[in-house]
Amino acid sequence: MDADKVQRVAVLGAGVMGHGIAQVAAVAGYDVTVRDIAQDYLDNAEAGIENSLGRFVKRGRMSQEDMDAAMARIGYTLDLDEAVSDAQLVVEAIPERMEIKHKVWAEAAAKAPSDAILASNTSSLSITEIAEAVPNPGRFIGMHFFNPPAIMKLVEVNQGEKTTEATVEAVQELARRMGKTPVWVRKDAPGFIVNRVLVTYLNEACKLLDGYSVEQIDAAMQHRAGMPLGPFMLSDLIGMDIVYNILKVFEEKLGPEYTPCQRITELYEAEKLGRKSGEGFYSYETRPSVSEEQAEGFDVKLLLEPFVDEAEKVVAEGIATEEDVDTAMKLGANLPRGPFEMKRVGLGEEKPILTEKKGGVLKVTVNRPGKLNSMTGEMLEMIGEAMDDAAKDRSIRCVLFTGAGDRAFCSGADISQFPRLDVEGARGLSRLGQITYRKIVELPKPAVAAVNGYCLGGGNELAIHCDFRLASEKASFGQPEVNLGLITGWGATYMLPRLVGKTLAAEMMMTGRRLNAEEAHKAGLVNAVYPVDEFEAKVQEFVNALVDGPPLALAAMKKLVNLEDLEEAANAEADEFSSLWNYRDLMEGISAFNERRRPEFKGE
Ligand code: COA
Repeated sequence: MDADKVQRVAVLGAGVMGHGIAQVAAVAGYDVTVRDIAQDYLDNAEAGIENSLGRFVKRGRMSQEDMDAAMARIGYTLDLDEAVSDAQLVVEAIPERMEIKHKVWAEAAAKAPSDAILASNTSSLSITEIAEAVPNPGRFIGMHFFNPPAIMKLVEVNQGEKTTEATVEAVQELARRMGKTPVWVRKDAPGFIVNRVLVTYLNEACKLLDGYSVEQIDAAMQHRAGMPLGPFMLSDLIGMDIVYNILKVFEEKLGPEYTPCQRITELYEAEKLGRKSGEGFYSYETRPSVSEEQAEGFDVKLLLEPFVDEAEKVVAEGIATEEDVDTAMKLGANLPRGPFEMKRVGLGEEKPILTEKKGGVLKVTVNRPGKLNSMTGEMLEMIGEAMDDAAKDRSIRCVLFTGAGDRAFCSGADISQFPRLDVEGARGLSRLGQITYRKIVELPKPAVAAVNGYCLGGGNELAIHCDFRLASEKASFGQPEVNLGLITGWGATYMLPRLVGKTLAAEMMMTGRRLNAEEAHKAGLVNAVYPVDEFEAKVQEFVNALVDGPPLALAAMKKLVNLEDLEEAANAEADEFSSLWNYRDLMEGISAFNERRRPEFKGE
C-alpha cells in the first residue's frame, strides 16, 4: 500500500497511546476510527483528545476551527469490523501481551482490506512474532510512537523479519505526514533503539550504587553530562515496573548482562514504582531535585561509556544506523545530543558553551539544558573568547547563537549565583555581560540568534545584541528581572527600547510581560518565525545567505546601523543593577523564585 492511498486510519486500543495516535492522525487530516472493548475507554479517549487539542488552542498553537475539524474526523466504536473494514492503515495500541495481540490481530487482519498496512505500536514485543497472527505479514510493521504522541516527534518504524521494504517506506512517509520524524529500525530487536539504549543505561547506573549515591550520580548526569534528568529520577518517571519488565525481556533475549540490578528489583517487588506510586529511588512528597555540588566525586564517563557502548552494539547488530540512533535518542529521550555525537565531541563533562566552525559559520550553543541554559559568568567569558576568535578568523563569515535542548535559548543570568554576590560583585557581573555582548555588536560580521524556546533576561539580552533574531514558533521573549526585584543588567535598558520602542520595552521590563513568537515578530523584535519542525533548516538557509554575502559591505552596514556610543548608558545600568544588592527586596525575589511563590516586595 502506497502512503498516498491512505485516507482512513483505524486505531485499536483507546488508551493513552491509542488516543494520542488517533489525535495525531486526525490533526494530519486522516479520517480515524478508534476501537476499544468498553464504552468507558472510548469516552475517556474522546475527553483526552478534546483536552489535549484544547490546550493547543489555548496556547495559540492551533485554531478552534482546526481543532473542531480534527475532532470531527474521529469516530469511536466497539465494533472491530466497523473500525477496520475500510481502513488503509490499522495501528494497534492494546496491552503488551502476546496472546491478546494475536487474538486481536487475527480478527482485525481478517476484516481489514487485504492490502491495508497493519502496524503495532508495541514498545517491547517482537514484530515478527505478533505478525504470526496475520496471513500476509509483508504488510505488518511496528509503528512505535512515544508518550505523549501529540508532543513527541519520534516514531520508530520497526521492521519485522517478513515486513517488505515497501511497507517500511510507506510507514516512514505516513509518520512524516503526521508531523513526526521516523527512524528505521531494520531488525526486530528487543527494545528497538530507544528503550534498548536508555533502559540499559538506567540499569548500568544502578550497578554503580555500591560506590556512589543516587543523588550524586543524578546530579553529575544532569548538571555535568547535560542529561535532562539523572538516571534515577528518570527511572522513577518511567516507572519501576516498566523498567524492570523491559530488562527482564532483555535478560531473556540478550543475556545475563541485562539482568535487572538489585535495587531496581527490590523497588519493583516492594511496589515502589516511582513517581506514580509516590516512592521509588526518591520520595515524592515534595518535588526532588539535585544540586550541582552533589555531583562532586562522580566521573560522568563511568556512565557515558556504557551508554555509548550500548548504542554501538545497536549499530553493530545491524538494527539501525548511527545517524538514526542519534536521532532516536535525541527525540525519544530528550537528550541534547545522541551517543555518537557525544563520542565525536569527546566523552566527559559537557562544556556550558559549545563552539563549532562549519561552512563559514561559528555556531555558539548555550549548553546547560538542565538549567534552561541559564548563563554564568564563566559562560560569558567563554562567549567573549569565541567572539575574539571569530573577529580574527577570516574563514568565519557569520556567527550563530542557539540554545541546547528543546526548551530554552537562554533563561537569563544564573539566579543561583546572585546570593553570593555583593554590590561590587554584582557590578562586575553586569559589566562582564555588557562587555561580552558588546563584542557581538562590534564584531564586523553578522550575528544571528536562533531562538528555540525561552529567551529571557540575559538570554534576551544576548539575542538583542545580535543583528538578527529568528524564532521558532514556541519561542518566548521577556525581561522577567522585575519579578526578582531586580533590573536588567546586560544591556536591555538601552538596547531593547532601540529595537521595539520605549512603550513596549518599558512594559516588558517593568511588568515582566513575555511575548510569544508571533507578538515578538509583530513588535519587530524578531525577523521571522518558523514552525518548530522547519526551524533548523530555515535558520541554515538564512545563515547561508549571510555567509555568501559580501563580507566588507556587510561589516560596513553593521557598523553604520550600530553607530552609537552606548558606554554611558551601560555604566548607568551597571550602577543601578548592582545598587539593588543593598536592599532586602532582591533576596526576597530570589527566595520566592526558588520556593515557587509570589514575592512580597517592601521597597527596602
Ligand atoms: N537561573 C538559574 N536556574 C534557572 C534559571 C535561571 N535564570 N531558569 C531556570 N532555571 C532552572 C530552575 O531552577 C530549574 O532547576 P531545577 O530543576 O534544578 O529546580 C530548571 O532550570 C528548570 O526550570 P523550571 O523553573 O523548573 O522550569 P519551568 O518550566 O517551571 O519554568 C521558566 C521555566 C523559564 C519560566 C522559569 O524557569 C523561570 O522563570 N526562570 C527564571 C527566568 C528569569 O527570571 N530570568 C532572569 C534572571 S536575571
